[in-house]
Amino acid sequence: MAGDWRNLGYMGICKQKGSIIWLTGLSGAGKSTIAAILQTMITESGKMAYVLDGDKLRNGLNSDLGFSREDRRENIRRVAHVAALLYEAGFVTIVSVISPQEDMRKYARSLVPNGEFTEVYIKADVEECIKRDPKGLYKKALENLIPEFTGVTSPYEEPSNPEIIIDTQKISAQEAAGNILKYIL
Ligand code: ADX
Repeated sequence: MAGDWRNLGYMGICKQKGSIIWLTGLSGAGKSTIAAILQTMITESGKMAYVLDGDKLRNGLNSDLGFSREDRRENIRRVAHVAALLYEAGFVTIVSVISPQEDMRKYARSLVPNGEFTEVYIKADVEECIKRDPKGLYKKALENLIPEFTGVTSPYEEPSNPEIIIDTQKISAQEAAGNILKYIL
């Protein structure tokens, strides 16, 4: 049937090709800031883009989950599937989650065809994140007021083979978003 979204194939309902840009890194590394700038840049270029942000998702869809190893796995499993659905609809889907476990990032990648998933490591040393501490969470974690805090009392597995590494101690969020955009265009 003409106009049936299922017949639009990989172009999805947005009539544009989807992709997933997966930003991983410590809290305070700059993921959300870069994601927001990137979304604006992509939208201004005429494509539909949407950000799936860890904090925002944890307020709704994932509000039943905490930060144990198992809960983080379930968090990322759900985010990965939502991202894959948006990809199917044709959105440029920007995901901004700590996603500390390498195997779960690989799982997210496995849900879309080869070449459609760009893993971006938003890199900042934990010492630098502690200095920035935009939400005051590191201070609380160091005072043992927040358990299992990533980089302090819970592990972060650095990506072994990401498509892009952004060192946020060396370049600005604007430059970072520009570099990611150049890569995906
Ligand atoms: S993930 O590890 O499961 O991928 P996610 O990206 O969804 O984490 O959420 C991280 C956000 O939750 C952080 O940016 C921070 O604001 C908040 N947060 C609250 N408690 C913790 C914690 N124990 N570890 C990390 N982040 C936490």
